[in-house]
Amino acid sequence: MAKRERWGTRIGLILAMAGNAVGLGNFLRFPVQAAQNGGGAFMIPYFVAFLLLGIPLMWVEWAIGRYGGKFGHGSAPGMFDAMWKAPISKYLGALGLFISTVIMVYYTYIESWTLAFSFFSITKAYFGETTFDAMRSFLQSYQGIEKNYFQSILPAYFFMCVTLFINFFILYRGISRGIEMLAKIAMPTLFLFAIILVIRVVTLGTPDPVNHPDWNVESGFAFIWNPDFSKLGDAKIWLAAAGQIFFTLSVGMGTLQAYASYLRESDDIALSGLSTASTNEFVEVILGASIAIPVAAAFFGIETTQEIAKGGAFNLGFVSMPIIFQKLPFGEFFGFLWFLLLFFAGITSSVAMAQPLIAFLKEEFGISHGRATALIGFSVFVAIQFVVFFLKHGFLDEMDYWAGTFGLVLFALFEIIIFAWIFGMDKGWAEITKGADIKIPRIFYYIIKYITPLYLLFIMINWLVQDAIPTFLMKDVEPEDVPYRWGARALMFLIFTIIILMVKTAWAKRANKMGV
Ligand code: PHE
Ligand code: NA
Repeated sequence: MAKRERWGTRIGLILAMAGNAVGLGNFLRFPVQAAQNGGGAFMIPYFVAFLLLGIPLMWVEWAIGRYGGKFGHGSAPGMFDAMWKAPISKYLGALGLFISTVIMVYYTYIESWTLAFSFFSITKAYFGETTFDAMRSFLQSYQGIEKNYFQSILPAYFFMCVTLFINFFILYRGISRGIEMLAKIAMPTLFLFAIILVIRVVTLGTPDPVNHPDWNVESGFAFIWNPDFSKLGDAKIWLAAAGQIFFTLSVGMGTLQAYASYLRESDDIALSGLSTASTNEFVEVILGASIAIPVAAAFFGIETTQEIAKGGAFNLGFVSMPIIFQKLPFGEFFGFLWFLLLFFAGITSSVAMAQPLIAFLKEEFGISHGRATALIGFSVFVAIQFVVFFLKHGFLDEMDYWAGTFGLVLFALFEIIIFAWIFGMDKGWAEITKGADIKIPRIFYYIIKYITPLYLLFIMINWLVQDAIPTFLMKDVEPEDVPYRWGARALMFLIFTIIILMVKTAWAKRANKMGV
């Protein structure tokens, strides 16, 4: 077996893992989720989900990854097969490949908008579009939904190509020379930019004391942090909180496992996993919560901010923020920082999404690294066309729902059952604690074995009933979008089928080789 790649340094590994977790989810998805789901009250189910789902799954995924790596597997089919010798296990693992791949297709497109908007900030392209309608129209013309500032989708297409190229160039350079190097540059820069922006926001005070004395940063913080306990009885906010924890920590995707497979057998998991999770939470709850919402409250007041949050993450990031930058001295500079920050957060996550598939093609098919990277780059380029051209018909939303929201929980459920019940919790615990630099409280043994799986099951069932079935039946979809939504499902089905067939072929080849 060819020697597998390794992480170069411990700090590099931690930065790469943190880069995987810290993404657009921290700066765009989190503030919107918090604002939509009861502000401070959201933080209670959020914290519970962090403790009972996030942390346990973080350790479990690191352990699965390091264990699989020992047998030369960097993707879930091989990892599951190593833990559970049953024909079905590799197909359950295929779900891990599917999820990260589908997310990559739409996530890189959004990432490319952030690159474009950092350019539009520094060149003041959108300066002059000072109302919500005007700025929304700027964004939509960029996305090719209407013709206004931009007469065609060409600029968006160009930035999409550039973004894909950078992603696959980094992936081509490999684990330590590519991903680790990127993380070592992008993560410290991201921190610096975020801190500059937070300082700018908290020192804003009350921008317009004469006309709007109660529009200030403090009211924004109060809005995010004031708990509305009456909302705690609503199952919806518990589901939203669990969904956010999953998405933001990158659990249930197969990417943490892929990264962990490049550890050495006795490398620490306990402390590194915990550091990754805490870094992500710091960036999310402290930095992410202190930029977009408080600044919107200071310039538009709480009521409008609530409206903005209802309009979703893109509305907050790409419409309301650019309007605010136009009101700030040196706004083009702060806009540049904000969007570049998002780009760095995005790219350190998107490279992670491709890694399981790259590892799969190399290790299970014996394709060279260069070919594997090129093949995936080409496939993503093909699939992304649909997202680009059918954006307004909800192609992206459909993929985000089934892969980026629902799929994760399903995969995590399979994963934890295989780990804690089939592989066995005693062996599992030994894996998690091997080489550990901290002592994990024994209670996590029981949490991982009983609480996390039950919690997941509970979420799964609630989700099915409340959300997934109505979504599947397209209850709130505009009739003209229905065919496109089916198109998105067909595309996902195709991707899934291809992955399943590849897994089947890979194992058949292996059985042949071993003469079984
Ligand atoms: N955790 C990332 C974020 O918060 C998203 C992500 C999804 C990363 C899937 C890797 C894999 O934006
Ligand atoms: Na995150």
